[in-house]
Amino acid sequence: MYKDLVEDLDGYSVEPDTFLDVPFVPTDEHVIRAMLQLGKVGPRDILYDLGSGEGGILIEAARQFGTQGVGIEIDPLRIADAMEFAADARVEHLIDFVEDNLFEADISEATVVTMYLLESVNIQLRPKLLKELRPGTRIISHAFHMGEWQPDEKLELSHITIFKWVVPAKIEGVWEWEGLDDRLYYVELQQKYQEVSGNAWVDNEPATLNRASLSGNWLELEIQAPNQAPVVFTLIVDDDDWEVVQHD
Ligand SMILES: C[S@@+](CC[C@H](N)C(=O)[O-])C[C@H]1O[C@@H](n2cnc3c(N)ncnc32)[C@H](O)[C@@H]1O
Repeated sequence: MYKDLVEDLDGYSVEPDTFLDVPFVPTDEHVIRAMLQLGKVGPRDILYDLGSGEGGILIEAARQFGTQGVGIEIDPLRIADAMEFAADARVEHLIDFVEDNLFEADISEATVVTMYLLESVNIQLRPKLLKELRPGTRIISHAFHMGEWQPDEKLELSHITIFKWVVPAKIEGVWEWEGLDDRLYYVELQQKYQEVSGNAWVDNEPATLNRASLSGNWLELEIQAPNQAPVVFTLIVDDDDWEVVQHD
């Protein structure tokens, strides 16, 4: 239904000089609750809703968890309504509604981002999300996918799917460290979003990379040297710094 509406309103604008990439359609309350749950939104998060409309998602998060929110919305009339609804819910001190274009706003402080846009808009936004958001930031999209970037999780409700992505750290390249067994571990990794593949060596001998999984800045690697038991490491990658933890 929403898709039909959007197709009918392609290029829809409220005022002659306000171009909307997506028309206003509010997210239902039960979908909002499911989105907040999937995003594990809590009191320490900073939640950004891109195209925040009447502010329903941010107001519910502030009411339920005391979450701080920022709404990016291009239509000033929606912002006025959202501010009024936030005041009615007595959470206006927790939420900023910013009149801005979601393609231009600074979103770097978000720990969770919610969106109810369109797949084409999500795909256009994808490079900005990957560039500006810190690794580990959760992105929750009501109904719309993000093209070739596969979701980390999804939740099927009766008529709608909610998607979740975790912004991956950049881990492509060469990593080398010494294990607790005094052996030298060396991996060469390739990365496509959160999907990681590559090759491993132990003490300069080819080994097998049984598993490589990335969630935010946590990279788990299972490496097996010939005729040896597999060893599992977690590399925690933080900007230019990283540490390695070996599992028993
Ligand atoms: C489908 S509504 C979603 C509203 C709210 N996020 C929710 O889920 O209830 C999309 C919103 O995006 C806003 N919007 C469209 N294009 C935008 C743009 N380029 N920058 C910021 N907001 C935009 C619209 O005005 C509308 O309020």
